[in-house]
Amino acid sequence: MKLTAVATSTALLCLGLVPGGIAVPTFDFTSTGISQRALPNAPDGYTPSNVTCPVSRPTIRSASSLSHNETSWLDTRRKQTLQPMKDFFSHINMSSFDAVSYLTNHTSKISNIPNIGIAVSGGGYRALTNGAGAIKAFDSRTQNSNQTSQLGGLLQSATYLSGLSGGGWLVGSVYLNNFTTISNLQTYKDGEVWQFQNSIIKGPKTNGLQAWDTAEYYHDLAKVVSGKRDAGFNISFTDYWGRALSYQLINATDGGPSYTWSSIALTQDFQDGKMPLPLLVADGRNPGETLVGSNSTVYEFNPWEFGSFDPSIYGFAPLEYLGSYFSNGAVPSNTTCVRGFDNAGFVLGTSSSLFNQFILQLNTTSIPSTLKKILASILEDLGDRNDDIAIYSPNPFYGYHNATVAYETTPDLNVVDGGEDKQNLPLHPLIQPSRHVDIIFAVDSSASTTNNWPNGSPLVATYERSLNTTGIGNGTSFPSIPDKNTFINLGLNTRPTFFGCNSSNITSGHAPLVVYLPNYPYTTYSNTSTFKMTYDISERDDMITNGYNVVTMGNSSRNNSSDWPTCAGCAILSRSFDRTNTQVPAVCTQCFEKYCWDGTRNSTTPAGYEPEVLMVGTKSAGVRDSTVPGMFSLGVSFAVLCFWLA
Ligand SMILES: *[C@@H]1O[C@H](CO)[C@@H](O)[C@H](O)[C@H]1NC(C)=O
Ligand SMILES: *[C@@H]1O[C@H](CO)[C@@H](O)[C@H](O)[C@H]1NC(C)=O
Ligand SMILES: *[C@@H]1O[C@H](CO)[C@@H](O)[C@H](O)[C@H]1NC(C)=O
Ligand SMILES: *[C@@H]1O[C@H](CO)[C@@H](O)[C@H](O)[C@H]1NC(C)=O
Ligand SMILES: *[C@@H]1O[C@H](CO)[C@@H](O)[C@H](O)[C@H]1NC(C)=O
Ligand SMILES: *[C@@H]1O[C@H](CO)[C@@H](O)[C@H](O)[C@H]1NC(C)=O
Ligand SMILES: *[C@@H]1O[C@H](CO)[C@@H](O)[C@H](O)[C@H]1NC(C)=O
Ligand SMILES: *[C@@H]1O[C@H](CO)[C@@H](O)[C@H](O)[C@H]1NC(C)=O
Ligand SMILES: *[C@@H]1O[C@H](CO)[C@@H](O)[C@H](O)[C@H]1NC(C)=O
Ligand SMILES: *[C@@H]1O[C@H](CO)[C@@H](O)[C@H](O)[C@H]1NC(C)=O
Ligand SMILES: *[C@@H]1O[C@H](CO)[C@@H](O)[C@H](O)[C@H]1NC(C)=O
Ligand SMILES: *[C@@H]1O[C@H](CO)[C@@H](O)[C@H](O)[C@H]1NC(C)=O
Repeated sequence: MKLTAVATSTALLCLGLVPGGIAVPTFDFTSTGISQRALPNAPDGYTPSNVTCPVSRPTIRSASSLSHNETSWLDTRRKQTLQPMKDFFSHINMSSFDAVSYLTNHTSKISNIPNIGIAVSGGGYRALTNGAGAIKAFDSRTQNSNQTSQLGGLLQSATYLSGLSGGGWLVGSVYLNNFTTISNLQTYKDGEVWQFQNSIIKGPKTNGLQAWDTAEYYHDLAKVVSGKRDAGFNISFTDYWGRALSYQLINATDGGPSYTWSSIALTQDFQDGKMPLPLLVADGRNPGETLVGSNSTVYEFNPWEFGSFDPSIYGFAPLEYLGSYFSNGAVPSNTTCVRGFDNAGFVLGTSSSLFNQFILQLNTTSIPSTLKKILASILEDLGDRNDDIAIYSPNPFYGYHNATVAYETTPDLNVVDGGEDKQNLPLHPLIQPSRHVDIIFAVDSSASTTNNWPNGSPLVATYERSLNTTGIGNGTSFPSIPDKNTFINLGLNTRPTFFGCNSSNITSGHAPLVVYLPNYPYTTYSNTSTFKMTYDISERDDMITNGYNVVTMGNSSRNNSSDWPTCAGCAILSRSFDRTNTQVPAVCTQCFEKYCWDGTRNSTTPAGYEPEVLMVGTKSAGVRDSTVPGMFSLGVSFAVLCFWLA
């Protein structure tokens, strides 16, 4: 496998209106530098530390309900989404239906108000940047996003925002930077975050104001991680990977070693319900297993807890005290508590731990031999072939159920990339019945086809998993999804498509309506390889702009899409209409006829899928990435790689 990044792009500078009718958003220059971050509250930087246990000692709780923390936060957040939702509908043309009045009429019962989730898929920097474009389009703070043709305010109206792998980098970077805007992240300079032209392999070019070189960077990675090891914790490649990511995503000066994921819950704006609940997804791997199957345990990190709704674990641990020794669901009275294990970069690295594989291969590529030596000494520390996992040790679920399942009888918990089970969209947390999500905007940047375009495969995986109602599905419910060939043959992967429009057709439980938003070339060929490790600033921004156009259908300028914001609005209201016994307005009936998958299938093997950039009459708008064979669905490529490396 060749890892050489393809970096030849004739980038298109996106200023104002581009000929061809697709309005390209301009940057919001009102920002002033970097705002302060969440809370760097770890007791000793990256090294987890012994601390006195709180009076009520940390325990594992059952997943049979949401945490008290979440339910009380939801009380606040759900109310906070009401005004943004009204603002959203006040700039969307709903024909004769008065959506603002509808929302006002149902304010007294907040559970009747739409409960919105947004999910951002994995797929490396492609997923990060395409997803960033989506978030930018949904963010009412983005200039022009309040126009009728746009979707600004959806982010402010959402209850949940989930990410996985590359999509998790996006979610983490936004939250750990005080819920800043994508526009702000784009305007940062060298020495700050989001400088993807500096490969993560080589590190940032400056350490704040000073120039620093790659050797210093590796020394720093090694030094910081060895602190954790010397304190008695098992480490894996994910520790280095997470540290490296932190320079790009959290703080370019020192990689923010003290930022914890649980600190997000302590920030005032979060507690005031001013932003959606961030959720990260990772997968479990059984002891001794190399391949991760579709029945593997799906974990979530929320700001308070780490755990799983799956039957294998069915419990949650307090995130702040991860790293403490738990036995039978509690920290025994004769042991001390540990804090600082939930380092934010480590959490981001866990969800994206596939990338360990690529760092491992760098040994065979053209980096200077001095670096290889440093890298080799790092690698020597790590066990054989266990490098692609994150080790959560001590295992908080040790003996929790007194069950026979492997997860509960091993001292270590092995956690891997959230896309390894083929569910490359982080839908699992959003389809839990206890969360009552009505609608999921699913931004899919998966590389599922031979040339890195999506074809619905993460939806298929989640759907199939949900069918095992007595086993792994465990009460979840998901709309019916056709096979991947149908996606391509009917073009369901070329435009927004709704699944589960008719809630009465859903056999078991209350599935959300899913708005599928597949990556598609509007203004640039956004099908770069998952393994492309560097993006020039202009490439990065072209990808973001394309993602913006994916979810707004080019600000509703794509052929026959002037109704798109209206129809997105109808999708938001659909489940709420059911609950309030409201007759679906005519404008929405038309939308559903047009955007809902109508149940037809065509499973014949499609000819190749090679979409062309939509925008006509302009110069080249990017590059088609054909030299890197990132041509499997993400899930399959993980598996193949594991074999290849084993
Ligand atoms: C975070 O952002 C909010 C909203 O923009 C702002 O009010 C607050 O002061 C910021 N917090 C910090 C610590 O910068
Ligand atoms: C979460 O809930 C626990 C117990 O209900 C409480 O002690 C803790 O302060 C809460 N955490 C946050 C971050 O609000
Ligand atoms: C809201 O309630 C008022 C008063 O009952 C009614 O006139 C109006 O039609 C309702 N709006 C919607 C959209 O149902
Ligand atoms: C969009 O509208 C919202 C709600 O009125 C407002 O808070 C926001 O500032 C507006 N955004 C822009 C860029 O003007
Ligand atoms: C990044 O970390 C450095 C060193 O700890 C600190 O001085 C700087 O303020 C941090 N930057 C931000 C934006 O928090
Ligand atoms: C997944 O399925 C395989 C084979 O059916 C089985 O060996 C394994 O234990 C299962 N894993 C879980 C977490 O149920
Ligand atoms: C597990 O077994 C131990 C010893 O038999 C017992 O003390 C503990 O309460 C059990 N834990 C649970 C969660 O049942
Ligand atoms: C705590 O007590 C249990 C039995 O009560 C014992 O097995 C364990 O070794 C003790 N742990 C420590 C750290 O002393
Ligand atoms: C933390 O406490 C444990 C016992 O609970 C002990 O084994 C370990 O050495 C302590 N670590 C440090 C760094 O003091
Ligand atoms: C990387 O290269 C070094 C030096 O050639 C070698 O010792 C080491 O085993 C290699 N590591 C891997 C993971 O291949
Ligand atoms: C459902 O899940 C259980 C346990 O995870 C497994 O044993 C069973 O084979 C699965 N059934 C199907 C039809 O996949
Ligand atoms: C989910 O799994 C747990 C643990 O096995 C079980 O107690 C619970 O009843 C299951 N829920 C549903 C809805 O099947």
